[in-house]
Amino acid sequence: MEQILNELDWRIRIFESLSYPTRILNANREVIAANQVFYDRFQITKEDLLGRTCHDDSLPYASISHFPCSSDKCPHLAAHESCKSQSIEVQTWDKNGNTIWEERVFSPILDDKGKVKYIVESIRDITRIKHLEKRYSEMRELIDKVVQSSVSAIMAADREGNIILMNEAAEKLFGYSVLDANEINIENFYPSGVAREIMRKLRDEEIGGKGKLPITNVDIVKQDGEKIPVEMTAAIIYEGENEAATAAIFNDLREKQAVAKKLENAEVQLLQSEKLASIGRLAAGVAHEINNPLTSILMYGNMMYEELDADHPLIQHLRYILEDAERCTGIVKNLLAYSRQASPSRAVFYLNNMVNESLGLIRDQKLFMNVQVVKNFDDHQILVNADKNQLCQVVINLLINAFDAMEGSGTLTLTTYRNDSHRAFIEVSDTGCGISDEDASKIFEPFFTTKELGKGTGLGLSMAYGIMQENDGGISIKSTGPEGTTIVLELPEEPVTDEFTFVSIG
Ligand SMILES: Nc1ncnc2c1ncn2[C@@H]1O[C@H](COP(=O)(O)OP(=O)(O)OP(=O)(O)O)[C@@H](O)[C@H]1O
Ligand SMILES: [Mg+2]
Repeated sequence: MEQILNELDWRIRIFESLSYPTRILNANREVIAANQVFYDRFQITKEDLLGRTCHDDSLPYASISHFPCSSDKCPHLAAHESCKSQSIEVQTWDKNGNTIWEERVFSPILDDKGKVKYIVESIRDITRIKHLEKRYSEMRELIDKVVQSSVSAIMAADREGNIILMNEAAEKLFGYSVLDANEINIENFYPSGVAREIMRKLRDEEIGGKGKLPITNVDIVKQDGEKIPVEMTAAIIYEGENEAATAAIFNDLREKQAVAKKLENAEVQLLQSEKLASIGRLAAGVAHEINNPLTSILMYGNMMYEELDADHPLIQHLRYILEDAERCTGIVKNLLAYSRQASPSRAVFYLNNMVNESLGLIRDQKLFMNVQVVKNFDDHQILVNADKNQLCQVVINLLINAFDAMEGSGTLTLTTYRNDSHRAFIEVSDTGCGISDEDASKIFEPFFTTKELGKGTGLGLSMAYGIMQENDGGISIKSTGPEGTTIVLELPEEPVTDEFTFVSIG
C-alpha cells in the first residue's frame, strides 16, 4: 500500500513539475486535474476549473475553453479515437489583448486494456517561435524578391550540380526556363571543363578565401550553344563543415565590351583625325611653297619646249621634265584638297548617277578587261548634297584601288543604300588581295602606299578622308581579308523636295 502511495506521490510530483500548463480531461472532456503552472498561467482557481468541459465558454478566461475546433476536428476526440497524440496550434489573447500562439498537445493515457481513459492536454506558448517564423518567412520573401528582381543572373546548385535556384535574369542569360531546372546540370552552362575549374578555384583557399571565387571572367554557354562572355563571382554554401550547395552571380559583359570597343574606336578615330589634321597643315604649307617654283618650271620648260626643234637631242629630256613637273602639279593639287584648302562647292545630286559617272571617268579601260562590274544600286535614287567633283574623285580612287588590288581579274561590286537615320552609303567591294591588319591602320595617312614607285603617291585615301569629312560624311573599311575588301562611304541624305523626287530605277 505504501509503495502504491509512493508511486502516486511521484506521479503527482512529475505532473506538478511539468513546466508547461497541463490539465487532464476525462472522456467527457471535463477537467479533472491541472498543475499549478496551469492555474498560475490562466489565473483561475481550482474550483472554477475542475469539472468544467474544455469547451465551456462560461469560463472566465476565454482561451482556456474557446477552441477554434468544431467537433469533427476536436483534437480531444481525435486522440480518443486514434489512441495517439494530437496537436493543434491556437491563436488566443492574453488579458491585455496581446496575441498569443499556443501549441496544445493532447496525449492519451491508456488503461490496462489499452483503452483511452484520460487525455493530458499540455499547452506550450509558441508566440516567440511564431513571431520568428513570421519574420523568417517575411525575410525569405524579401530575399526572394531581391534575388528575382536582380539584374544580375543568380543561380544556385546542389552538391551534384543540379540547379536549385535560378532568377529571371539567369533564365534570360542562359536561355533555360526555371521549369527545366531539374533536367540541367551546372556543367551545361560552361564550355567543357570550366565548371570543374571553377570548383577547383572555389576550394582553393589561396584564391579569394575558402569557398569564395572573386570576380572572374569566363564564357558561359547558352541553351542554343552561343558563348557569352560574363564576369562572375561564386561561393560554396556550407552546412557545418560540409559543402551543401554553390551559388553564383553572373553579369553579361557583351554590352560593356561593346561600349569599350566603341570608345576605343572613337579614341583611335580622334587620334587619326588629329594626326591627319596636323599632317594636313604641314602638307598645305609644303604645297604652297612648291606651287610657285613648280609654276615657273612648267612655264619656262614649256617656253623652251616651244622654241626647240622637234628633233633636238634634248627634247626628250625636256619632255620627261615637263611630265614629272605635271605629275607634281597633280600631287600639289591633291595635297591642297587633302588639307581642305579648296572649299567644296555643294549641290544636290543623285548618288547612283555620280557613281555611274565616276565609273565612266576611268580613262584606263585596260583595267576593266577581266573584271566583272556588278551594280547593286538602291531601287530608289538617293539624294545627297555634296561637292560632286570631289566625290567623283573619291570614288575614282576607290575604284582604281580596287582594280589594283585585283591585279586585272575579279569582281567589283558597287552598292548604294540608305538607312532610317537618313544616311546614304556607297560601298566599293573587290575580290582583291585585302589589306593586312598592320596596313589597315595606315591607309588613310598621306603618302602611305604599297604600290611601286611611280604608280601610287599614297594620297588617294587620305584625300578621300579629308573630302568626306568636309562633306559631313565619312570613309571606313567595312571588311577586308584574303577574299577581298569593302570600303564604305557615308553621307547625310538630302530630304526629297519637289525639284528632286524619288525615281525608281528598279
Ligand atoms: N581595295 C584595296 N585593296 C587592297 N589594298 C588597298 C585597297 N585600297 C587601298 N589599299 C591600300 O592602301 C594604300 C593606300 O591607298 P591610297 O589610295 O591612299 O594610295 P595609293 O592607291 O597607293 O596611291 P594613289 O591613290 O595616291 O595613287 C594602297 O597603296 C594599298 O596598299
Ligand atoms: Mg589610290
